[in-house]
Amino acid sequence: MSSEVLPLRRIDHVRFFVGNARQAAYFYRNAFGFDVVAYAGLETRMRHEAGYVLRQGNITFVLASPLGPEHPEAQRLIMHGDGVQDIALEVDDVARAHRETVRRGAISVRPPMLLEDEFGVYETATIRAYGDTTHSFVNRDRYKGVFAPGYRPIDPERYHPTTFRPAGLISIDHIVGNVEEGKMDQWVRFYQDVMGFQQLVSFDDKDISTEYSALMSKVVQGGNGRIKFPINEPARSKRRSQIEEYLNYYRGPGVQHIALTTDDIIQTVRALRHNDVSFLRVPHAYYDAVPARVGEIEEDLNDLAELGVLVDRDDEGYMLQIFTKPVEDRPTLFFEIIERHGSRSFGKGNFKALFEAIEREQALRGTL
Ligand code: FE2
Repeated sequence: MSSEVLPLRRIDHVRFFVGNARQAAYFYRNAFGFDVVAYAGLETRMRHEAGYVLRQGNITFVLASPLGPEHPEAQRLIMHGDGVQDIALEVDDVARAHRETVRRGAISVRPPMLLEDEFGVYETATIRAYGDTTHSFVNRDRYKGVFAPGYRPIDPERYHPTTFRPAGLISIDHIVGNVEEGKMDQWVRFYQDVMGFQQLVSFDDKDISTEYSALMSKVVQGGNGRIKFPINEPARSKRRSQIEEYLNYYRGPGVQHIALTTDDIIQTVRALRHNDVSFLRVPHAYYDAVPARVGEIEEDLNDLAELGVLVDRDDEGYMLQIFTKPVEDRPTLFFEIIERHGSRSFGKGNFKALFEAIEREQALRGTL
């Protein structure tokens, strides 16, 4: 199996490049319930950027900001706004992962490097993915520090202990990339041929189109199913699709949404709403059709309707999901909260209701 050629353990972390990491950390902490666990910056002798490491369950986000225009990534902020710079994958052997992927056609961004401090050795290398997004390969088997060299545990005085309601988020379920029209298959092949992923399922615009918004989507998975990357491209439609809107405002391909798992979506969404996370709403009529479409579920339909949680079923089981509104001023990155009960799919049955909800938001932005 090709995944044995490039053994990928898991998504190690997602690095966001943002205008003001200090304030972004406050948002992800107080709205999404992340703990801020580590910091790098001038105080830790990091001269060119500030970084905050946030953790919740098995999820690690890194928020980084440049400390000046000479930072090699500084232009990214003007071009893309805040967004996902890097999806870092933990591997057994960084040098080999870099060598193998470059040999199979990946573009190298950073060759393998050993970063060292008194806590050990941290290995990393980086290749390009879609747009200005990258994949780092990391290995921390010989590293005992809080995150990586340069980072220190956050000053315990920095945050008040209980200013937000805990969200109970557990892990990253999938990370979706938007690419340009006609480029989806090329990126699916990249993940198959270069990264050793397998293609999982595909949707086309007959499955998922409304009058205006249409998209095509294929899902690739690696690391024996632990890493799932759906890739979207816009499909032709009467008016501007949500994927086109993303591409226009992000100025190119990039990460559209990150899906985070919970084992109690009712409690999670209640907490996130309490913390002022804004979610897309579907019309109440959506819930009238749920019993016939989905059958028996453990959750109370009234709770789902109250919170706007969506539900879908496939051959293997059901799943519950909800989408936030974009978390930035540009209508680009958003989050999904998902709870799976057997189902391994992505909520195809909800696409129509969801796209209509997104289009109502697009209409408000005048971008439909
Ligand atoms: Fe998703």
